[in-house]
Amino acid sequence: MTDTIKTQFPLLQQKQNGKPLVYLDSGATTQRPQAVLDAVKHFYEQDNANPHRGAYELGERATAAYEGARAQVASFLNAQKEEVIFTRNATESLNLLAYSWGLHNLKAGDKVVVSILEHHSNLIPWQQVCHAVGAELIFLYTGQDGVIPDEEIEKKITKGVKLVACTHVSNVLGLVSPVEKIAARAHEVGAVMVLDCAQSAPHLKLDVQKLNVDFLAFSGHKLYAPLGIGVLWGRRELLEAMPPFLTGGDMIDSVREQDATWAPLPQKFEAGTQNAGGAVGLAAAIRWIQSIGYETIEKRENDVYRYLWDELAKMPHITLYGTPEGQHCGAVAFNVEGVHPHDVSTILDADAVCVRAGHHCAQPLLTHLGLRACCRASIAVYNTREDVDALANSLQKVRKWLGYGT
Ligand SMILES: Cc1ncc(COP(=O)(O)O)c(C=O)c1O
Repeated sequence: MTDTIKTQFPLLQQKQNGKPLVYLDSGATTQRPQAVLDAVKHFYEQDNANPHRGAYELGERATAAYEGARAQVASFLNAQKEEVIFTRNATESLNLLAYSWGLHNLKAGDKVVVSILEHHSNLIPWQQVCHAVGAELIFLYTGQDGVIPDEEIEKKITKGVKLVACTHVSNVLGLVSPVEKIAARAHEVGAVMVLDCAQSAPHLKLDVQKLNVDFLAFSGHKLYAPLGIGVLWGRRELLEAMPPFLTGGDMIDSVREQDATWAPLPQKFEAGTQNAGGAVGLAAAIRWIQSIGYETIEKRENDVYRYLWDELAKMPHITLYGTPEGQHCGAVAFNVEGVHPHDVSTILDADAVCVRAGHHCAQPLLTHLGLRACCRASIAVYNTREDVDALANSLQKVRKWLGYGT
């Protein structure tokens, strides 16, 4: 049966080695639906000029498209428009926070808490800032199942903690973090709470009024939007008190020979010419997601996720990491006994099955789990049970190719 969601993705219609492409690496980046490709094409064909610069009709249309995209993101997050900062990606959003908020609010002896699940993008910026100011970096550890126990939250998030930065969904294990508990505890001790939503935004409805966090970050390209556009959302009073991260054109109020003053939010954080085409694509991606609805997305993805876990769990010589219990989305991590993950991925590629192999930019987590590398199959709303069957069939061949009997 033709899947009406998958058919909206031109890239997924192609064949590789004569076989239908099976894309199971959406945790790295998603593919784009036709609606997003059309919106970006329309912008460059009809409305492209430098936003906020041209006092002519075309320039005003470019500004309207860019600021319209911001309004779309704000309503998607249930936030105010001024609280939405466009960046290149989640990594840049988190660096902005670390260097602007972190360098100016943390001092020697303060504590910053992250979890061992963090992607390097939500770890290294905090390491750097802690080194620079002499603050201490503390980890919330998981059990072998990848779950952060309640006691860990109570024990580590205590007086003296100034910031807690945590991933919403683990990019390796696909597990949803206990954000409600972590954020409540962070606020109880007076810490600022940062949520890395890079892996949750495509799967879960984000509402900044309900999440009880102070900042959140995500990348457009994991959310069916173009590469090179990301978002930082922050509480207005916190953003207003922060100095700019990057300086230059379009972020100033007035400039004299020796100093300058800053534009109000959000321009203060958007120095230089912005990726308006990317922002327009992100707005189109959000409209596309909303036309499907998170309820449908979650239902489809849960079905495929569970099927994926169960099919792989049945196979001999495969070890799965994490747990299928609890709230879960997006990814399943595994290894094939006796085979390096890179070899697994290369062999699957001969069947046009794309999975990621390596440390997944989460080396401390892999070390914590006693691993050097693993494979990850990650899903998006366009994936189907047939994709899982293709993966499972191809996985049957892996050990045989390498000379094992079974
Ligand atoms: C949990 C998490 N955070 C942050 C990032 C960084 O995203 P980007 O490379 O788009 O900046 C990723 C990317 O995989 C991720 O999975």
